[in-house]
Amino acid sequence: MSQHTLSINGKRYTVDVDSSMPILWVVRDFVGLNGTKFGCGMAQCGACTVHLDGEPVRSCSTPVSAALGKKITTIEGLSEDGDHPVQKAWVEEQVPQCGYCQSGQIMSAAALLKDHPQPTDANIDTYMQGNICRCGTYDRIRKAIHRAASMNDDFTLSKK
Ligand code: FES
Ligand code: FES
Repeated sequence: MSQHTLSINGKRYTVDVDSSMPILWVVRDFVGLNGTKFGCGMAQCGACTVHLDGEPVRSCSTPVSAALGKKITTIEGLSEDGDHPVQKAWVEEQVPQCGYCQSGQIMSAAALLKDHPQPTDANIDTYMQGNICRCGTYDRIRKAIHRAASMNDDFTLSKK
């Protein structure tokens, strides 16, 4: 164990942990941000997706050492008031069912729109294939991503 300073949602946190500890543990258990979920713990489901310098990563399988000097963004930090276009579109399309996978879905969708501001269905299916939804909300996810894209936000800015 040793002290590590991490940037999470624009704030700096110093935690006394092993550098191999997954980011997910720090985010949830040390910082108390519970929006990011633990699903499989094996980088297989996407429930734990956060952004590392704007890129989506599986926080259950990404160690603290990989985040040093980088910016971690969780669902709580994606926008100030839940008003990122993806979040607004998610509400408008009433995407969630049980909700467990949804913060990971939203974080992946936000990253997708940075790379593909006007994504095709194929772009969406390819990019989002690592985010599993046991409730099968995939059709609504796709519709919501198209709706978010139609808001013409500057996704490169909103993802920082
Ligand atoms: S909990 Fe991280 S990918 Fe499933
Ligand atoms: S909404 Fe239930 S797992 Fe996706």
